[in-house]
Amino acid sequence: MCGIVAYVGSKDAAPILLEGLQRLEYRGYDSAGVVVSNKGLKLRKVKGRVADLAKAVPARFKGTLGIGHTRWATHGVPSDENAHPHLSSDERIAVVHNGIIENADELRARLVAEGVVFVSETDTEVLAHLIARTVTETDTLEEAVRKALKSIVGTYGIAVVDSERPKEIVVARNGSPIVLGLGEKEMFAASDVAALVRYTRQVVHLEDGELAVLTADGFHTFASGGRETAKEPLTVDWDAGHYDTGGYEHYLLKEISEQPESIARTLRGRLDERFHIAHLGGLNMDARETRSFRRVKIIGCGSAYYSGQIGAQLIEELARIPADAEPASEFRYRNPVVDPDTLYVAISQSGETYDTLAAVQELKRKGGRVIGIVNAVGSAIAREVDGGIYLHAGPEVSVASTKAFTSTAIAFALLALHFGRVHDLSPADGRRIVEGLRELPTQIEKILEQGDRIAELAKKYAVHPSMMFVGRVRGYPVAREGAQKLKEISYIHAEAYPASELKHGPLALIGPELPTVAIVPDDELLDKNLTTLGEIRARGGQVLMVGHREPDAKLADDVIVIPKNEIELDPILLTIPLQLLAYHAAVALERDVDKPRNLAKSVTVE
Ligand code: F6R
Repeated sequence: MCGIVAYVGSKDAAPILLEGLQRLEYRGYDSAGVVVSNKGLKLRKVKGRVADLAKAVPARFKGTLGIGHTRWATHGVPSDENAHPHLSSDERIAVVHNGIIENADELRARLVAEGVVFVSETDTEVLAHLIARTVTETDTLEEAVRKALKSIVGTYGIAVVDSERPKEIVVARNGSPIVLGLGEKEMFAASDVAALVRYTRQVVHLEDGELAVLTADGFHTFASGGRETAKEPLTVDWDAGHYDTGGYEHYLLKEISEQPESIARTLRGRLDERFHIAHLGGLNMDARETRSFRRVKIIGCGSAYYSGQIGAQLIEELARIPADAEPASEFRYRNPVVDPDTLYVAISQSGETYDTLAAVQELKRKGGRVIGIVNAVGSAIAREVDGGIYLHAGPEVSVASTKAFTSTAIAFALLALHFGRVHDLSPADGRRIVEGLRELPTQIEKILEQGDRIAELAKKYAVHPSMMFVGRVRGYPVAREGAQKLKEISYIHAEAYPASELKHGPLALIGPELPTVAIVPDDELLDKNLTTLGEIRARGGQVLMVGHREPDAKLADDVIVIPKNEIELDPILLTIPLQLLAYHAAVALERDVDKPRNLAKSVTVE
């Protein structure tokens, strides 16, 4: 959420900052700005996209040190004034900031009383003025920043420049990520490695409370008290190519289409054909400990939570351990009872989602055992948990999650197989699941081949302002994810219900104007699901069924038939046509598919 880029070296900073911001635009995209330092600070910022900013930056905007930002508004509307960087009144200090300063109003009132004139409505501007006040009393910019941060309550990832010290940038983090990129006689910093991989793959992640000083010659990191810390650089295994659209019209379609490979990567080296088990060394848990858990509690936000619901179902079915999923954003605030016999599983593609991170921290404070299912290696949540499973799905750039969703479901299938085989899952059932998992990539390719037909169906249904999604048991999280994808990228209102609950209320909505997407796998609930279709059709409702066979023609207007796997794994395949349906509906309605309005990829604020 919001993107930060910083550069210091011998090259022109502006093109590097603009390129980095473009890579980060998926994190926030309502306004953008850059500052470069060259005998004073030069600033350009605009409401709009990074492309608008690039047009506003003059050819002569020279400087070998600078910071940039792309914004997702929290305090104040998207506007030129509210865009970052923010300058102090004397234009000596410039700040870019991700996160939220909770006591901004109080600080602002104090500064106004002291005569400071504010030019924006943002919380960040407070910080620029505070640093400007302390910088005259301190020997270093680092000290001034640290002093100013002491008065802040809230979260931040910041980059700060001082026109009087044109060779250094100070960055700091607390709850909002900052990654340093190490170059040859140049240094970078960003809120996400996506902005760095074009220039370097050697990175250092700052911890909460840490601050770093960057110069062309390198960096120094400090803990909150000022003690210097030692950091080992990591090598990122994603390169710039992973962040291109690869010839697809949108990142979303690229990421949907990549699922045969992303799933294969999640599975790679983890399936054991001999004992029909999963190898999950990252869990850091021996068989005895694995057996000791009596319950599994899964937490995540949005689509991650829905994939957690698929995970809970898999764990209950295969390992017969009670499991359930809950939104991390709710869990963290309800003073949860943390039980020593429960294994907690936190899910996050980005590894940054603030609510999920805060829930993990709350669990750890209470002595809970937490593992993570995370895509971004070295991210905040990955570093906070006791062990886990990396998805290896590759970077997900489009705001709507697709390949991370299916890879998370795969990670849960592996976890459930692992738990199942240390409990009572028979070798024969273990083999069935291992073979089913192996088949998934080819089956997904078969579903993707139906893209054109699904595009036609999407056009047909996208004329409706609202759609219902229904599914039962294993199909219910699939319906929820289908509704989520449709609403977030096409802005068609979509609601998901357990098919079993329709008669308890929502059936009142059904009629010719409200079509239903029904998830109807070929499982023990098939007949019950078909009865529901009959009930919908009897009320004049249109039905688009996604399942494994054509039903009686009276029961559905349209059917998407997909390959059948094991019943436990079918939800993974059933998700794919719904991703395509949402994508093509969004295209038909000419939406901004990869950057839906009001949303951002990594939600690093509460
Ligand atoms: C929906 C979507 C969001 C994320 C959620 C959690 O398509 O992308 O609902 O799933 O914000 O994000 P992560 O997985 O990064 O924690």
